[in-house]
Amino acid sequence: MKFFVDTADTRDIADLAQTGLLDGVTTNPSLIHKSGRKFLEVVKEICSLVEGPVSAEAVALDHATMMKEAAVLRNIADNVCVKVPLTIDGLKTCKALTSDGAMVNVTLCFSANQALLAAKAGATFISPFVGRLDDNGLDGMQLISDIRLIYDNYNFVTEILVASVRHPIHVLESAKIGADVMTAPPAVIRSLFNHVLTDKGIAGFIDDWQKTGQSIL
Ligand code: G3P
Repeated sequence: MKFFVDTADTRDIADLAQTGLLDGVTTNPSLIHKSGRKFLEVVKEICSLVEGPVSAEAVALDHATMMKEAAVLRNIADNVCVKVPLTIDGLKTCKALTSDGAMVNVTLCFSANQALLAAKAGATFISPFVGRLDDNGLDGMQLISDIRLIYDNYNFVTEILVASVRHPIHVLESAKIGADVMTAPPAVIRSLFNHVLTDKGIAGFIDDWQKTGQSIL
């Protein structure tokens, strides 16, 4: 499963990229707002930090203007992936862009039927928001299972990008279901490293090492 980080904070992106486990980045207008930076400038910097897809969201709601925005975004770098909402105009834009060789991430997916539409429109990625479904008393991970089943039934190549990931169990369940990608905030990715027995083991080894009185350097 590929790991994307869901942030526009370039310090976090640069730090996580050093671990070698970062396959891409996703941003959205809320994350750009949180960064306090200019959209096009921050996307350009992110694209220089990672080789994989960097999702940058079009904000127009009509197809014609979305296409104009997409042209600007695609001009930033080769690894820009244009993000469009799951609407009729969004999917028209998806079809036009992917037919022209661009990467497209169809976002704000909350049903398996919506995911089916995105795959038929040639989406590179579909982004089902599991956390927001859970927040509303629905089962986010069941949606991922349903989309996996449907995509496998018809050999769709659209990659399932699990979004709105809130905790390590979302990551674990995504991997068990066979999602292609998950995108999570930096704190969730860092939490995956944690285990109480790892911490306890390190403390025990360091304690015994100090008792030897030796030094490696
Ligand atoms: O980037 C899309 C998605 O991951 C947003 O997550 O936490 O705002 O629901 P969240």
